[in-house]
Amino acid sequence: QEVRVFAPATVANVACGYDVLGFAIDSPGDEVVVRHCDKPGLHITAITGDDGKLPKAPEKNTAGVAALDLLRHLGMTDRGIEMEIHKKMPFGSGLGSSAASAVAGAYAVNKLIGEPLSKQQLLPFAMAGEASADGAWHADNVAPCLLGGIVFIRSNDELDVAQLPPPADLWAAVVHPDIEILTKVAREILPKDIPLVNATQQIGNLGGLLCGLIQSDYGLISRSIHDVIAEPRRQKLIPEFYKAKRAAMSSGALGFSISGAGPSVFALCEGETTANKVGEAISKVFSSVSLENQIYVSKI
Ligand code: HSE
Repeated sequence: QEVRVFAPATVANVACGYDVLGFAIDSPGDEVVVRHCDKPGLHITAITGDDGKLPKAPEKNTAGVAALDLLRHLGMTDRGIEMEIHKKMPFGSGLGSSAASAVAGAYAVNKLIGEPLSKQQLLPFAMAGEASADGAWHADNVAPCLLGGIVFIRSNDELDVAQLPPPADLWAAVVHPDIEILTKVAREILPKDIPLVNATQQIGNLGGLLCGLIQSDYGLISRSIHDVIAEPRRQKLIPEFYKAKRAAMSSGALGFSISGAGPSVFALCEGETTANKVGEAISKVFSSVSLENQIYVSKI
């Protein structure tokens, strides 16, 4: 028996929800294949699409760590399992690459052994996998990757998460300029403390965005997609960021910001046609800084 799992890319933060809001997109995504084998323990037999960067030792690999953590929890570390990892998105892209591998690892192994745990119950194990990659504990990539749609995280420590119903015609245009930003670096440039006035603005916008999503109020969504904390600092790492933002907004986007820690950016749009137009406009701006930039348009 063989289990093949696809885990999608995700947009974390969604402007005003730093570490507490994220959504999944249709593509790109990572693939993990698992099957039973005679040799006890977890063995990563093949990794593709990683330019040789990922270690095959399961305890050093996000998909492996997530799977091992799950098997340990279930007392099944002696099971013989082979795993293949097929990376289909770039590292350091702001698209939740390590989270996707971690989710795929935990999900695939759980499925292979007869689904003892529900999707929701897999969250801590996938989290452990991702945390092994970037050293931080935030569920805004892992939770939407695992559960799908838009997910709000009330508490990262308690992993208290809620899925939100997306408005019927909400689309995302995500553009990845071909530069690499390490999440660790993008987190280090953020201030430890923020002024109360910024906290109030950010909370207002986050509340507005959540209400707008729940009520399908595109105007409220648009007024709320602003990030006064991370974006002003992180945009310096992304060439032509404000030019791309102006291009997206003048092409009809509801809002625009950095996807996760960047360099990918995203725009929320009403309707597929607008999302395609916005994606092209952003990509055109980035064509002056990166030879190969990818556009991903997805219904949320
Ligand atoms: N919320 C995280 C950050 C996402 O912005 O650092 C990183 O993938």
